[in-house]
Amino acid sequence: MKGRIPTPPAICTKIEDPEDGNKPSMIRVLVAGATGALGQHVVRELDSRGLTVRALCRVRERAASLPIRTEIALGDALRPRTLGGVLSDVDVVFSCLGQSLSPRRLGFRAPGYFDVDVPANLTLLRRAVRAGVRRFIYVSACQASRFPDIDYLAAHAQVAQAVRESGLEYGILEPAPFFSQFHALVHQARDRRLMQFGPSTARTNPIAEEDLAFVCADLVESARSHVVPVGGPEIFTRREILEEACAAARVPARVQRMPTWVLDTGGWACRAFAPRLAQLAEYHSLQCREDFIAPPRGARRLSEYLRDLPAI
Ligand SMILES: NC(=O)c1ccc[n+]([C@@H]2O[C@H](COP(=O)([O-])OP(=O)(O)OC[C@H]3O[C@@H](n4cnc5c(N)ncnc54)[C@H](OP(=O)(O)O)[C@@H]3O)[C@@H](O)[C@H]2O)c1
Repeated sequence: MKGRIPTPPAICTKIEDPEDGNKPSMIRVLVAGATGALGQHVVRELDSRGLTVRALCRVRERAASLPIRTEIALGDALRPRTLGGVLSDVDVVFSCLGQSLSPRRLGFRAPGYFDVDVPANLTLLRRAVRAGVRRFIYVSACQASRFPDIDYLAAHAQVAQAVRESGLEYGILEPAPFFSQFHALVHQARDRRLMQFGPSTARTNPIAEEDLAFVCADLVESARSHVVPVGGPEIFTRREILEEACAAARVPARVQRMPTWVLDTGGWACRAFAPRLAQLAEYHSLQCREDFIAPPRGARRLSEYLRDLPAI
């Protein structure tokens, strides 16, 4: 069943919007999370459509790869005083700002999702309302409101609910995993460190960041409120994703098998001193047990993405 395609692979197509005729011609967008895996593609997509983009960045150097026309606004959403006039003259806020899902980024003791995603996005939302912004787009996660006991998902669900209740026009994306989430697996396969937790028969349909960015830009340009669950064109079991990583690394499909309770116990044990790692372990354990499948959009295939990754 590897790479099963649920419907004919949909090339990215615009969200049908009967009110598209009312779209403003010159939209000014603030992108929060612009230096992240998704945010960089969103900035590029918006720029290529001729929108005026301001990127909220904490560190100027990380914005070096953004299109030349992008206005860089330095600020940290967890320190409201650094935000200054970042929201002035903005029509739409697009936020994919969040604590990273990458275990290697930010170190061992990084704060958790309720300490970053919730306060940072609620600050932006409050400021957007005050500044008279018309529309707020937030990148949540697939099935975020279905698992209130999982901190990573619950934090996203809390922000999404605040966005819906803000009185602004809104767009909420509920994406399946991004391709970049599986980047590290290729290196782990090469180093024979790949781990499979439980039977890993739970399924998902990951989406390429550039395909998702296209959907994000449609939501920015739309004039209606939408909640958009979105995934990629192929459905894989978690085990099949590990096999794809081995194929990309050109090594035999060999993994170390572990029961999911190892993740659960490890996460529980480091909760007090490494909150983000604990929450990541909890979410990863859930992903190994539950399907996370969303309606397919986009065209890029995971095998191509993994094969084309630069060797480290
Ligand atoms: N990756 C996935 O598979 C996946 C799937 C579904 C949903 N999501 C959600 O989608 C969103 C984007 O994911 P991603 O993989 O693109 O994340 P990412 O690569 O970790 O990027 C996160 C972005 O947020 C910024 N940020 C964090 N704290 C900030 C703060 N206090 N002030 C200003 N900016 C701040 C980061 O800036 P710096 O560069 O300065 O750190 C970075 O630009 C996240 O909320 C994630 O949970 C991800």
